[in-house]
Amino acid sequence: MKSIKGTKIFERSEIKEAANLLQQGKLVAFPTETVYGLGANALDEAAVRSIFTAKGRPADNPLIVHIAKQEELKSLVKGELTEDVKRLISNFWPGPLTIVLSKNAKVPAVTTGGLETIAVRMPQHPVALELIEATQLSIAAPSANLSGKPSPTLVKHVIDDLAGKVDGILAGGQTGIGVESTVVDLSQVKPVLLRPGGVTYEELTDILGKVEIDPTVEAKLSNDDQQAISPGMKYKHYSPQAEVILVEGRTEEIPTKIKELIGAHSAQKVGVMATKEFSNYYQDVTVKEMGSRSNLAEISTNIFKLLREFDAEGIDEIIVEGLPVEGLGLAIMNRLRKSAAYQIIEV
Ligand code: TXA
Ligand code: MG
Repeated sequence: MKSIKGTKIFERSEIKEAANLLQQGKLVAFPTETVYGLGANALDEAAVRSIFTAKGRPADNPLIVHIAKQEELKSLVKGELTEDVKRLISNFWPGPLTIVLSKNAKVPAVTTGGLETIAVRMPQHPVALELIEATQLSIAAPSANLSGKPSPTLVKHVIDDLAGKVDGILAGGQTGIGVESTVVDLSQVKPVLLRPGGVTYEELTDILGKVEIDPTVEAKLSNDDQQAISPGMKYKHYSPQAEVILVEGRTEEIPTKIKELIGAHSAQKVGVMATKEFSNYYQDVTVKEMGSRSNLAEISTNIFKLLREFDAEGIDEIIVEGLPVEGLGLAIMNRLRKSAAYQIIEV
């Protein structure tokens, strides 16, 4: 086993050792099918508190609790599971769907940021499942980045942000989906989508019928103008060092607008996050391809990694091509709008 700045780096064959640390109330980051998470025993107040310290996360931003077996949900929530909840679980677990329900007294307030509700998901990644199962615990795990930074999709990102701040990092390859789980609130009478993610809005409504969309999901306005139900959505998010400008609207007009912006920022080091379809069009700037417009899954895998790459290359200004907000596009645009801190240009 390697160690970087005192943080143990575990390989897949060392899951047992990683699980032991979690059982001792320590912090261990691990891969999931969405992004890397930073885990701790969800029912251990001191352990959970150290997650907030390591990430520099505001204490009122609640954590998602991860379980390895569907049955464990009942041990965390109040009352019986409704038919809606059962249907969601049988369709999407394990997978990138987080369900918010009323919590029971066993769950400490630190874990839920003081809320009476708890967010729970069963991840799909074999390493995550094996790790959680080995601990025989429920594991609270926010994304394993410093608060405010783009979420980690490679173990390198976790090491860059958290080595020296956490006890262990369980290494895995690049995470598949690349944006975080969908968060849906079923603690009230009507289901509300709080954060779009790996499970699309269309997939949710197929199962639930009508689902309200929290105003923060479209995220075109700064949160000062909105009431955030999902407390996490009101903070600075997914922000690289560089300034980000997002150009969205009519697809055919986006490249021309970006060219104009490149000209206007000629004194700076400009990078363009482009789709494959338009990437050859931009000159004299650093261009990185997100993927093809016809393959949103490819784009979602890449966006956070590319934002970090631009930073590593000392880019000052990242100009990003917007996408239609359908399917995974809703989650991708939600993250891009936030990383642009609402600097959005509509064409
Ligand atoms: O894919 C994911 O969900 C990743 C991986 C590691 O599982 N985790 C993740 O956690 O994205 P985090 O902490 O970065 O984001 C959790 C989101 C925040 O927006 C938070 O406000 C919301 O879930 N959330 C958690 N508990 C909640 C609750 N009780 N009510 C409303 N929103 C909640
Ligand atoms: Mg996060």
